Amino acid sequence: MKFHIKDESLHKAGQSRILWAAMSMPVLESIKKRFRKEKPLQGKKIGACLHVTTETAYLMITLKEAGADVHLCASNPLSTQDDVAASLVKDYGIAVHAIKGEDNDTYYKHINAVLDAKPQFTMDDGADVVSLAHTKRKDALESIAGGTEETTTGVIRLKSMAENGILKYPIVAVNDAQTKHFFDNRYGTGQSTVDGIIRATNRLIAGSTFVVSGYGWCGRGLASRARGMGARIIVTEVDPLKALEAVMDGFEVLPIEEAAPKGDFFCTVTGDYHVIGLNHFELMKDGAIVANSGHFNVELDLEGLEKMAVTKKNIKPFVDEYKLKNGRRIYILGEGRLVNLAAAEGHPSSVMDMSFANQALALEYLIRNAQKLESKVYSVPQNIDQEIARLKLQSMNIKIDHLTQEQEKYLNSWEMGT
Ligand code: ADE
Repeated sequence: MKFHIKDESLHKAGQSRILWAAMSMPVLESIKKRFRKEKPLQGKKIGACLHVTTETAYLMITLKEAGADVHLCASNPLSTQDDVAASLVKDYGIAVHAIKGEDNDTYYKHINAVLDAKPQFTMDDGADVVSLAHTKRKDALESIAGGTEETTTGVIRLKSMAENGILKYPIVAVNDAQTKHFFDNRYGTGQSTVDGIIRATNRLIAGSTFVVSGYGWCGRGLASRARGMGARIIVTEVDPLKALEAVMDGFEVLPIEEAAPKGDFFCTVTGDYHVIGLNHFELMKDGAIVANSGHFNVELDLEGLEKMAVTKKNIKPFVDEYKLKNGRRIYILGEGRLVNLAAAEGHPSSVMDMSFANQALALEYLIRNAQKLESKVYSVPQNIDQEIARLKLQSMNIKIDHLTQEQEKYLNSWEMGT
């Protein structure tokens, strides 16, 4: 088996952490049990490009139990947990190509290594595998019958490929499942982003001014968690509807230019490009802390900041100081890469449970239906979404009401009015 990881000897610590995560992933656990019996992925080769975390490990183990041959690389150069990668290789026989802190060349070598294995199905987080398979590695398209995509940014890229007639195989957009984005994007990003900022800085959130750029599911999660810790929140947005929601949720909404001089913490979660630019860095207070929790590291203009700064120095892991001509110091966390995975461990297992249950069931659905599907982006079927919500509630021992026959009849009728 070919693999490329940092250090095999880390495997024991990795396995212990994988098993700890698994304790909070009961929905995936129940799928794993069924997959072990039914082997729905028997003989299928899966090329996965995901953040190599304990939760991803449990998904990979689930796919292997279902009979798949699994090849995994990282979906971000800074998100790999090296002990987890070691355990996947040594304890579970899964081919991993990922090292935390790998440079861009190595990052792409690792994606290429996964494509070299000739996967029949891809599992992406950000669409870098699909993108490579449609550009420099078109040879890989021969074997690929379908794929899944985990994240908002990836789904946007893939929908654009489909609209432009470029996409060559069907994709199931896991992000679009309600049991994914309502929970992972909101509560997962909310908690893990605050976690990453605190682990990197150990600064007090209470009493600070915290600027959240972007009020999608991730932004609203982050704003609500940071408020819960006592910060005053300023939201910046470009979408009037989302901005209005932020106002009615009780947040101050300002253009970034007006927010820049006020913030103690800044975090982008927009999925867009250069949301915080040089003119904004120049307006910030001395000591401002700036992070990104969107998928790609383009939300902050770091290249520009690098050129504009008079000095740059590393203060401690995941904290770089940029001194500007005006004498002020700006602190960038995790090189502007997703701070929740670079400086912390990503979303908690309990929320990844639902995201990765969607991945596992979406893959099973794809394998069953690949021949019928066109080269488009599909939603996760609603029955899968509902089933995951049901199983999650069951695992939490929470019971809900059910419609009576009379209520069902009422909901399906139009006759009864005022
Ligand atoms: N994305 C965000 N958090 C994650 C985690 N814990 N594992 C995998 N992907 C993630």
